[in-house]
Amino acid sequence: MKNTLVRIASLIIMAVSFIAFIAKAPAFPIASENLLPWSVWFTLSVLVNMIVWFPVMKLVSFSLGIIWCYAFIAGLVPDTSTASGTVTTLDWTDPDAVAEIGLGIFNGKGQCAACHTLDTSAPKGRCPDLTDIGINAANRVPGTDAKTYLIESLYEPSKYLVPGYGKIMPEVWKNPIALTKLEIEAVIAFLQSQGSEIDDTPFQEPIDRAKAETSAEALPPLLSGDPEAGKKVFIEAACISCHEIIGLENPKAGEGNEDFEVVTAPELTEIAALNSSRYIEESILKPNAEIVPGYGAVTVQSKGITYQGILVSQDEEKIVVRTKDDDGTEQEHTILLSELDEESIEDLTNLKARGYFTLTVTPTDSDTPVSGEIIEENDETVILKVGENTQTISKTSVKKQFKGTTIDGEEIVGEHISGELTDDFIVIKIDGSEETFDPLFDFEEGAMLLYGIGKQLYVTSPMPTNFPDDLSVSDMANLLAYLSTLTGQTATEETAPTGTVEEDME
Ligand code: HEC
Ligand code: HEC
Repeated sequence: MKNTLVRIASLIIMAVSFIAFIAKAPAFPIASENLLPWSVWFTLSVLVNMIVWFPVMKLVSFSLGIIWCYAFIAGLVPDTSTASGTVTTLDWTDPDAVAEIGLGIFNGKGQCAACHTLDTSAPKGRCPDLTDIGINAANRVPGTDAKTYLIESLYEPSKYLVPGYGKIMPEVWKNPIALTKLEIEAVIAFLQSQGSEIDDTPFQEPIDRAKAETSAEALPPLLSGDPEAGKKVFIEAACISCHEIIGLENPKAGEGNEDFEVVTAPELTEIAALNSSRYIEESILKPNAEIVPGYGAVTVQSKGITYQGILVSQDEEKIVVRTKDDDGTEQEHTILLSELDEESIEDLTNLKARGYFTLTVTPTDSDTPVSGEIIEENDETVILKVGENTQTISKTSVKKQFKGTTIDGEEIVGEHISGELTDDFIVIKIDGSEETFDPLFDFEEGAMLLYGIGKQLYVTSPMPTNFPDDLSVSDMANLLAYLSTLTGQTATEETAPTGTVEEDME
């Protein structure tokens, strides 16, 4: 009787441990240290069963044990075929093997190599070289570690654009590339292996795959137009006076335009090869939403000198601005961001959207101003990087300063205590004592209340914004249909999505 109980108990333990092993249950009793994983429990229970049962069952247990040994040894051998096939598991005990799988995806399914190089001597193209991306990833966005940055650059590539590059990287988890979470994990391991240690901490996908599919479908379909008619719109709406398309002749070449100043603009011969129709549509509807690097207009002030021109390039330390003199001669100026003059800020809303990247304010409960780089911002607060630390400032508890010139020519700068510029009187604290002024009569024009000062780099598109209003719906549809044919390929190729491009050959 006692024997039967032991036999049945050991049979149950064997079954349970086998199921737990298959289900990848955490180790028992100490899961965190992987103490006694279920594979060990199963092996032990097979041995016990071999001892306690009568001969036939001993034999069954023995056979089970043999099969188990084979399966176990096979499981230890890494599956080398995964580089080309689908990835079903990643063995993080060997991070280098995971990176190797990532390399396969980088060159294969991920299509990364079609755009990115891993060779600093390769010619600089439309996509950044990824040599040492494992190290560089840590320095891209202040406050974002390397792994988080890499996760973001794969899931939401346009959230942070590497300076000097456009929004052309596809969301690789979406169709047509459609990398799975495991594949992305492997690619990240590979990217980290380029110059750095592989960080195997698990992560959550920052996107909702299911929702992303439905929202993509929810967008209205692009209007389908006639490319030939669109070509005429391109000429008549004078897009052609700024944009060149190889093979398309400008009948008014050399003439100015009375509606806008003709500027250098990107050539559009291959615009549809690397950009979606959505992007092209947005470029026309909202030129400022995204500005092609090297073509944005800026006005900045450094050491009292104002530079108005085109932002040629920009990195973490400096900008290059191209200005044009009255006589048409062009000049490039390299300006350090640290040497930009600070501008008065009269309103703390949407600082980042208005190009501010540093801020100096005095919190209401303090007498010393806080100054730092703007890291994050929402309607209520702004987070500054002050030295090595970050400081959160509430936008509603910041002291206001008054700045103005009296009619006698005296500069008045002081802390604002009460009253508005439109009131009959305003109280200002100057050198510790409160003084009352009449804003309407005591000051010259231009007096202001400001919340702080900051450095600003505000880039706008020189492309006119009135096209959406001026072009009819059908003109717009035709124009888009025409631009979608501009893939840089010849007319005979079947890949042109809508209609064919006829080159003006005469
Ligand atoms: C159609 C071209 C294209 C493809 C395909 C593409 N990328 Fe990119 N990628 C870009 C461009 C352009 C940028 C720079 C703009 C940006 O930050 O989005 C970029 C940026 C990046 C960055 C940030 C680089 C840095 O220096 O900070 C990483 C990392 C990256 N890509 C990895 C990948 C990986 C991995 C794949 C394949 C799964 C891939 N890319 C596929 C075009 C592409
Ligand atoms: C006054 C000159 C000017 C005119 C006129 C103009 N553009 Fe532009 N356009 C620009 C500049 C400059 C840029 C680059 C800055 C930016 O991204 O907004 C640009 C950008 C674009 C882009 C994005 C290019 C890229 O490489 O990503 C498209 C597409 C475009 N324009 C289409 C048009 C169309 C279509 C018209 C006519 C309806 C037009 N533009 C009229 C100056 C102009």
